Order: sequence, then structure tokens, then C-alpha cells
Amino acid sequence: MNNPKIELLNVQKTRNGTVILKEINLKFISGKRHILLGPSGAGKTTLLRLLNRMDDPSSGEIFYDENNIKNIPILELRRKVGMVFQIPVTFEGTVKDNLMVPYRLGVISGNADENELEKALELSGLQTEYLGRKASELSVGEKQRLNVARALLNKPEVLLLDEPTSALDSESANKLLHSVKELNEVLGLTVIMVTHQLENARLFGGKIIHIANGTVVREGEEEGFFLNSLSSNMS
Ligand SMILES: Nc1ncnc2c1ncn2[C@@H]1O[C@H](COP(=O)(O)OP(=O)(O)OP(=O)(O)O)[C@@H](O)[C@H]1O
Ligand SMILES: [Mg+2]
Repeated sequence: MNNPKIELLNVQKTRNGTVILKEINLKFISGKRHILLGPSGAGKTTLLRLLNRMDDPSSGEIFYDENNIKNIPILELRRKVGMVFQIPVTFEGTVKDNLMVPYRLGVISGNADENELEKALELSGLQTEYLGRKASELSVGEKQRLNVARALLNKPEVLLLDEPTSALDSESANKLLHSVKELNEVLGLTVIMVTHQLENARLFGGKIIHIANGTVVREGEEEGFFLNSLSSNMS
């Protein structure tokens, strides 16, 4: 049951001679929730971007289902490893138009099936009536859900989320965390979420990986002693 979906071996990332990530050895377990927790500048986004090859390590190896990700065609990898960014990305038109974008771009082959669109919306916590609404008129929280829904249409095995709640008020943030938690529980999706907020880590649960100064300082299950031992101010 504890198969690593993604494994990092001695991963290092250097930019302009500065070491951003060093000696990262990590396993992300299939079907589990993971939190990358750490202060600003710790290297969380840098690490996340390596997992779907938006960037490559300077040294070390990353494996996906035990295959070196360098040997997996990049589009195939990105279909399997979906990503939701901190600031939601929306396009002109309705929610439906937005959900059709990956089909139009050929990222998803075939035609969009209305049922699929509705299912993805509902799984992300938006009602199906939203399909006809203008994307530009949605709240930030709703846009963020739309981004999750669009990522789900690819039927990813892993969902990466980079501070998805940072632009949300606490009620919308809690709702989004709850929806993503359900995606993990209902679909068995492997989830890796970046946050610098302890409260989010507590609400989300799962395996917590504490990153500081480009390295993993501690990792473990979400347990009181673990979280309480961290500084309450991670920002
Ligand atoms: N393109 C780049 N060129 C040079 N340095 C970079 C680049 N991207 C990030 N860095 C540096 O790498 C370090 C880690 O950045 P990263 O964005 O991964 O941090 P983070 O943990 O995601 O922070 P935050 O919580 O503020 O988003 C920072 O010191 C940052 O300045
Ligand atoms: Mg970041």
C-alpha cells in the first residue's frame, strides 16, 4: 500500500551558483495527501515544479511509478501530474468555455462530454449551474475551484497545488481544502499541496514535509506534537 508514486533521490537545484534545494530525498505515497510546509523562500515552489518537469533538477533523480521521469514523455507526465497554481488562471467566456480549453488545445484528446464537465465541477465543489456563468465574474475561491475542475478533466493520478488558498478568505480556504481532501478520499488521488500556513496543514492532514533553507528538516504524519514543535509563524 505504501508504494511511492513519486520518489526523489539526492535532488539538488542550483540557480546562478546558489543552491536552492539540496540533498532532497523524499517519497510521495500513492493515494495519500502530502503537505510541503515551510517559510517563504524555503524552496517549496521550486520543489513542486520539478515534479511535473516545469523545471529539472541540477543533479539527482526523480522517479514516477519507479520510472525516471526523464524517460516519460513530458505531455504524458503532465497529464498524470496536474497542477493548480496560487493565482487561478481563467480565460474569456463561460465556465464551460474554460473547462473546454484543454480539449481545444489538444491536451485532452476527443470531445468534451457534458457529463464529464459536470462531474469535474461537482467534485471541485461547484454546482453544475455554474457551467453557463462568466468565468470573469466568479469569486477568487470559485475560480480556484474551476482550476481544480479543469485539472481533474485530465484524470490526473497526482494533483500538485501551490498555495491554492493564499488569495482566499478563511471560509473559502476551508471549503477548498475540504473539497481537495474529498478528492483524495473519493478518487484516491495523490495530492501534494504547498502551504506556509500551519492551520492549512492541520485542516488538510496527511504527511507533512517541513522544508526550510532548501532542505527537508522534518517529515511525519500530521500529529499534534509534530505541528506544535514548529514555529507558529511560517511566513
Ligand atoms: N528563477 C529564479 N532565479 C533565481 N532564484 C530563484 C528563482 N526562483 C526562485 N529563486 C530563489 O529560490 C529560493 C526558493 O524559492 P521558492 O519560490 O521555491 O520559495 P517558496 O518556498 O515557494 O516561497 P514562497 O512561500 O514565498 O512562495 C528563493 O530564495 C528564491 O529567491
Ligand atoms: Mg512558492
